Amino acid sequence: MSSHGEAIPMIARRSTGLHGEAHVPGDKSISHRSLILGAMAVGETRVTGLLEGQDVLDTAKAMRAFGAQVEKRGDTWHVQGVGVGGFAEPGQVIDCGNSGPGVRQIMGAMATTPIAATFTGDASLNKRPMARVTDPLALFGARAHGRSGGRLPMTILGARDPLPVRYATPVPSAQVKSAVLLAGLAAPGETVVIEREATRDHSERMLAGFGARVTTEETDEGRVITLTGQPELRPQDIVVPRDPSSAAFPVCAALICEGSDVLVPNIGLNPTRAGLFFTLREMGADLSFENEREEGGEPVADLRARFSPDLKGIEVPPERAASMIDEYPVLAVVAAFAEGKTHMPGVKELRVKESDRIDAMAVGLRANGVEVEEGEDWWTVHGRGHGNVPGGAEAQSHLDHRIAMSFLILGLATAEPVRVDDGGPIATSFPVFEPLMTALGAAISRAG
Ligand code: S3P
Repeated sequence: MSSHGEAIPMIARRSTGLHGEAHVPGDKSISHRSLILGAMAVGETRVTGLLEGQDVLDTAKAMRAFGAQVEKRGDTWHVQGVGVGGFAEPGQVIDCGNSGPGVRQIMGAMATTPIAATFTGDASLNKRPMARVTDPLALFGARAHGRSGGRLPMTILGARDPLPVRYATPVPSAQVKSAVLLAGLAAPGETVVIEREATRDHSERMLAGFGARVTTEETDEGRVITLTGQPELRPQDIVVPRDPSSAAFPVCAALICEGSDVLVPNIGLNPTRAGLFFTLREMGADLSFENEREEGGEPVADLRARFSPDLKGIEVPPERAASMIDEYPVLAVVAAFAEGKTHMPGVKELRVKESDRIDAMAVGLRANGVEVEEGEDWWTVHGRGHGNVPGGAEAQSHLDHRIAMSFLILGLATAEPVRVDDGGPIATSFPVFEPLMTALGAAISRAG
């Protein structure tokens, strides 16, 4: 849906020869964290390259409600932080829209300050599980009162005398890890998070950049992250790298559309995020990393993707899941054009994203002539090979930006066009998706 609530039907038609440079927006994860950590520092943090998608704009609004000043001047976002423990009690309900990382990290950030805040979101966010965050926050002394099943809307009462926490995350989730670390900032002593599978580490890197003491140790238990509480965070100048999860869409489009050659510059290639690109190469994709370098503490490269007619289905290693969790929907689309099966195990978390992503993709792919099998934590796409995917059906986006974009990429290489019932959610993470893709030569438009 658009911000006014009406659905935006879209359509994608077979396209060839995608060509040019695709400048995708800033990284969503780093953008949320820039605003939240900026609001918890003492003084002015400046951010360029911020993703101006609805999810991040909702986080900016929330930080203002907690007392930080957040404004854009020219190309730069300026955040006047209030310091760790300095959040004011918001005078209104905090609406985080569609954003899980937004609401969960903000809950963590306020949970160790003695204020109350009530959170809500859209129909998708209000269905998603919050106990995974409120359980560890309770160990700090915070209390949560939400709807049954631990759903939003929910009020959090922050702890007056927080205790530091040692917490082993039961699910592989950077949102949970980050919420606990953010809560640990206002607690005395050391807060420890242990994760069995490594998830994206932007919070650890950025907390260190803001001057907090954070160490990471690989042990037999898993990755042990230790934060020393009550630091004074120093404001930062942040240049946000471009989002690998958004880059995935023009890259995958180029691989499946005949005669394509697309450059996607300045993409963050943090190893905890780059799993899709290694998977695509194993499938036989003509995909290279050019001009590899480091910027702002993150590895960055220009991605070059060319049409790849001989893609093969593969077994995706489950231990890679966390590093490509948001990319499985578009990987399933590429897998449809490969020869043979692509099996994707260890992906239970896909069922609790903005939608149940396994279900949403399986239903839409089947309607468009692609066989998909699924279990609780795995799915298999039976590839039909290049030129053999029928298309011709409508897919539902279920208020999920990545589902909407994935089906529009599908329609660029199917025999018949693919429709998506609602492209509105795309604005949450990739507001320029349609003009960027059409500038490359992709036939994606509003269906009218
Ligand atoms: C995110 C973490 C991931 C990802 C989401 C952004 C983050 O969620 O799906 O889009 O910014 O920390 P989980 O860590 O819960 O898997």
